[in-house]
Amino acid sequence: MFGGFPEKIPKLYLARRWNMDNFIFHNPTKLIFGKGQLEQLKTEIPKYGRKVLLVYGGGSIKRTGLYDQVKQILDGLHAETYELAGVEPNPRLTTVKKGIDVCLTEDIQFLLAVGGGSVIDCTKAIAVGAKFDGDPWEFVTRKKPVYDALPFGTVLTLAATGSEMNPNSVITNWDTHEKYGWSCAYSYPAFSILDPAFTFSVPKNQTIYGIVDMMAHVFEHYFHQTGHTPLQDRLCESILQTVIETAPKLVNDLENYEHRETILYCGTMALNGMVSMGFAGDWASHNIEHAVSAVYDIPHGGGLAIIFPNWMKHNLEVNIGRFKQLAERVFHVDPQGKTDREIALEGIEALRSFWTSIGAPSRLADYAIDGSRVDLMAERAMARGEFGQFRKLNKEDTLDILRASL
Ligand code: NZQ
Ligand code: ZN
Repeated sequence: MFGGFPEKIPKLYLARRWNMDNFIFHNPTKLIFGKGQLEQLKTEIPKYGRKVLLVYGGGSIKRTGLYDQVKQILDGLHAETYELAGVEPNPRLTTVKKGIDVCLTEDIQFLLAVGGGSVIDCTKAIAVGAKFDGDPWEFVTRKKPVYDALPFGTVLTLAATGSEMNPNSVITNWDTHEKYGWSCAYSYPAFSILDPAFTFSVPKNQTIYGIVDMMAHVFEHYFHQTGHTPLQDRLCESILQTVIETAPKLVNDLENYEHRETILYCGTMALNGMVSMGFAGDWASHNIEHAVSAVYDIPHGGGLAIIFPNWMKHNLEVNIGRFKQLAERVFHVDPQGKTDREIALEGIEALRSFWTSIGAPSRLADYAIDGSRVDLMAERAMARGEFGQFRKLNKEDTLDILRASL
């Protein structure tokens, strides 16, 4: 199974195993990467139809001129274009419903998402929702299966989620303060265009959040219960090392093409299934972060920077060897004269220091979040029961991690 948000958690995953799990890898998204690749819209879109819904966020694509470039191509194709603007960061169910209405009323044939992970995730839910018999919250909460979707493509403007090459989508119901990830076989983009220059304008804080998010995706893969994953480990470690080497240079030189290119590619590779074949990743930290941003609407990467090191400390004893391996191979902790536990802890501290050094937050207080709603956040995290593949977390575990993060 693709290493995103596992549909069902078999009990088997709780016992440590030696061999890889059997797997089938299939990723149908056509990745179109590099300078000037927007032109490829001219050959891709006509394959799917001429009634197009263009989906975008709060206006960054208008400020950068990308909107005009896309419109020009759509006009040149004589596409009948409709628009859904204003997709929120942490996209909301209400916006998904608006998009579905446009698709049904106008008989839309293809959706084009131009933006970051939120715009893409929202587009996935609209594409599925337009072919779904029922309320979209029913497939977001995995109450009803999905059998079809409208085709959609993406033009990515922010390196972070990997949504451009995976089937995952995360939708928030702000009325009930719930935020859930879902995925299905029909929510892969048909194609994604990634031009590093489109990410030049991403502000420093969002660039940092994106860097944290892609590293967090690698960590979610890295902490699993399968003993024999030597290639997967090294693929994960190489992404982490590349990000650690590039991020400090990028945050001080936001329009550097080479650095943007490296980070963009890392973001996609961190969550497109390539490094996670043969095991089930953990995903508990993401679950906790989604609960935090469901209650407080904070940026996903900011929440992860706060929570992940505390999840690591909480679960150190589950498999010290894995934390030690990370410390030595990625953070180059000198093992001389230290116990395995000390090496492992030093690695976690090195991660925290790295994130702080590039400007990521380290406490929920950085977002003015105090302890008054920890119980609600823990409840939201527990909505689907105990969670996490590396170790199952219950409400007490979740509260411990949240309190350590205050
Ligand atoms: O809305 P606009 O005006 O476009 O501004 C956005 C937004 O304010 C801005 N931005 C994007 N590209 C820009 C830019 N500003 C200037 N120049 C550009 N080129 O950045 C802000 C954040 O955008 P958003 O799309 O929210 O960020 P991100 O890509 O980090 O997506 C976050 C969402 O993805 C979910 C998160 O939970 C969150 O809801 N996730 C999705 C995943 C997936 N589909 O696989 C996995 C992740 O773990 C994550 O949970
Ligand atoms: Zn993430």
